[in-house]
Amino acid sequence: MQRLLSGIKPSGDLNIGGYGGALRQYVKLQHEYESYFFVPDLHAITVYQDPVELHQRTRDIAALYIASGINPDKATIFLQSQVPAHVELGWLLETQAHFGELKRMTQFKEKSDGKDTVSSALFTYPVLMAADVLLYQATHVPVGDDQKQHLELTRDVAERFNNRYGRTFTVPEPIIQDIGSRVMGLDDPSKKMSKSNPNKNSCVHMMDTPEDIRKKFSRAVTDSDGQVRHDWEQKPAVSNLIEIYSVFSEEAISVIEKRYEGQGYGTFKKELAEVVIEKLQPIQERFHQIVNSSELDRILMDGAKRASETAGPTLLAAKKAMGLVTF
Ligand code: TYM
Repeated sequence: MQRLLSGIKPSGDLNIGGYGGALRQYVKLQHEYESYFFVPDLHAITVYQDPVELHQRTRDIAALYIASGINPDKATIFLQSQVPAHVELGWLLETQAHFGELKRMTQFKEKSDGKDTVSSALFTYPVLMAADVLLYQATHVPVGDDQKQHLELTRDVAERFNNRYGRTFTVPEPIIQDIGSRVMGLDDPSKKMSKSNPNKNSCVHMMDTPEDIRKKFSRAVTDSDGQVRHDWEQKPAVSNLIEIYSVFSEEAISVIEKRYEGQGYGTFKKELAEVVIEKLQPIQERFHQIVNSSELDRILMDGAKRASETAGPTLLAAKKAMGLVTF
């Protein structure tokens, strides 16, 4: 069976972008792959996180995995900081990654833009991500479009290491869906829907109330031609809403276009909100049951144990390959 690994950072409330690009895929793919879903808490702290909030958000993401339908008996769910091999392999791989290639990472450029200082960890962030993936010999990594470049770096680092020291790592393939891999802000379809956008109306959170969801969609920007038609070039805002509809209703874009033909945006936006609310409601309910439970602690402890067992042999092989003394 092929192996899959992916994760969502606990750096803000998870929004429906992360659901569309990542979480929704996880739930489906767990049946086809031996799956590892982790919470990259060490990635979150590359920018300052309030300790109390980080603690809660880390549990929140793990609980959301389960609430959304990941089965902990089937997939391994764990926290990155509980498997020290990630940091260890991260350091080994930093010796293989090039300063120049890290400098070209779009996310680093965006996150450091205009800042007087950023942490060195923000710069080496993609190398830790490579370690996350390569430790598990993952064959596939489901991500949203914005992680594509990081995955390419992971592949380059793996190939470089394998060429230099002998075949140690599986070179992974990204899985990026056609629909839902780039959910954009409701206020501005040129910017991705992001946990860190300060505009509250740009982003629907997984835990938003029905009233908030209705309000946010009713305020979402559209355009002036009034047709519910998917066309990223001419109609990015409406196309974004249609994709969100498709993600949550699991209907084809053409079916949605047909349903709202000649109806204008009012009805479409209202019903879009209801489709999202209907999907989120059972997820939210299950989330609240599990998030502060000892069941979640057990799942995460068990997950960390299972993950360490898989990661250990790869770390050892990498150390040996590099000539480090191992016993
Ligand atoms: P993160 O936490 O920013 O996002 C988690 C996942 O959600 C996807 N995503 C989106 N997809 C569509 N539209 C959006 N608006 C949107 N926003 C987020 C992201 O592409 C991602 O798949 N570096 C990663 C976390 C990570 C990781 C890994 C992922 C660390 N190690 C190893 C995979 C494998 C990140 O910051 O994702």
